Amino acid sequence: MAEQINPWSSTPKMDINRLIADFGIEPFASVKEKITDPPVFIRRDIVAGHRGYNAVADAIAEKKPFHVLTGFMPSGHPHFGHLMVMKEVVWHIQQGGKGFISMADREAHAVRGLSWDACDQYAREYMECLYALGFSGEIYSQRRNNALKDLAFEAATKVNFSELSAIYGFRPETELAHAVSVSMQVADILYPQLTAGVAPTVVPVGIDQDPHIRLTRDITNALRMFLVEDRGTHISIRVKNAPKEALDAVAKRFSGSKKYEGHIDLPAGHTFEETDAIVREVEREFGGFGFLLPSATYHSFLQGLQGGKMSSSVPDSLVWFDDPDKDVKKKIMGALTGGRQTLEEQKKLGGEPEKCSIYQLNRFHMQEDDKELSEMCRACKAGELMCGTCKKETLERVRNFLREFKEKRDEVAHMVEW
Ligand code: TRP
Repeated sequence: MAEQINPWSSTPKMDINRLIADFGIEPFASVKEKITDPPVFIRRDIVAGHRGYNAVADAIAEKKPFHVLTGFMPSGHPHFGHLMVMKEVVWHIQQGGKGFISMADREAHAVRGLSWDACDQYAREYMECLYALGFSGEIYSQRRNNALKDLAFEAATKVNFSELSAIYGFRPETELAHAVSVSMQVADILYPQLTAGVAPTVVPVGIDQDPHIRLTRDITNALRMFLVEDRGTHISIRVKNAPKEALDAVAKRFSGSKKYEGHIDLPAGHTFEETDAIVREVEREFGGFGFLLPSATYHSFLQGLQGGKMSSSVPDSLVWFDDPDKDVKKKIMGALTGGRQTLEEQKKLGGEPEKCSIYQLNRFHMQEDDKELSEMCRACKAGELMCGTCKKETLERVRNFLREFKEKRDEVAHMVEW
């Protein structure tokens, strides 16, 4: 049986390929070719998995409406580990998506015990970073968004405690507020469709967030009034939880359909997508939501500078955007690399960039130029590029990035409004 993923653990051990096999996440390679002019995180397979991304890739290609939403728990300062998701959101907005960010203050309060004031302070930092990277759209706080809270309550009617313990390992002593924060995240993921129209929605996340995505997709199905099924020979529309009038209304929309007790069969010639869209429209007329299944992309994690996972509990494993220069220097120059024991050995055998936190930092963020990156990789493996030189060059790139990022943050600081 597949193991559980705990999204609140600070040290999840997660091999993205195993997750793909165990949890039915699809490899991103299956949709990669649909993306013209792919950004770094797609070109370099940093985004490694997805659920339902075809709908989003098609919307991008056909210039149809779609949404992009992600959330941040404002429980600490933003750092390099958050940059990938931020860039993914901004890129999707540039591709025509409507952007949404949830500041998960309820989750931070319930799970990490942060005060509301502390949540607000951290949230402002995240917002500044997002605007500095080019974000535009809606940023909201979970606790101040009434429509979201209503949606979370509605979502909560479709999940029970045994499902929560199967998915998250919740136990009798788990606080109720923790469970409520789960329903908040489900509502976050569906919120763009509630407020800005039913459309494909992509949720860029790290793979540790997959349990929330799975649960949300289950709840999205459970919230439907009808089940539309492609039976091969024809399409059948089955009542799950719909008033009788809604079934009559659906039947009226398809001439030549046959209405039975609890289901309708359509004559040949209808496609699944077209039928489902009409049925979802009727659901909304009768007070339902008619949401499309949300999609997700999963990126692999940036390796910590000390080798393991980037984690705020290991201070030298990561660089915070506001770190003083002397700390940045200490962390980069002291990072664990893929270098050999001795200089001699390294010249002879070459380094191991796959294992190197500095190389990975360049691959994720510090070297946008593919040619330069592959030259770096080649020279390292050939034993021509030594770790000291490479770290110094990377440090300069990190310094430049941090300086420019700070300047941009100052320019957009006035946009942060709470
Ligand atoms: N749980 C996420 C985290 O720990 C934050 C989050 C809240 C989120 N709501 C979301 C992520 C909606 C994606 C979508 O970082």
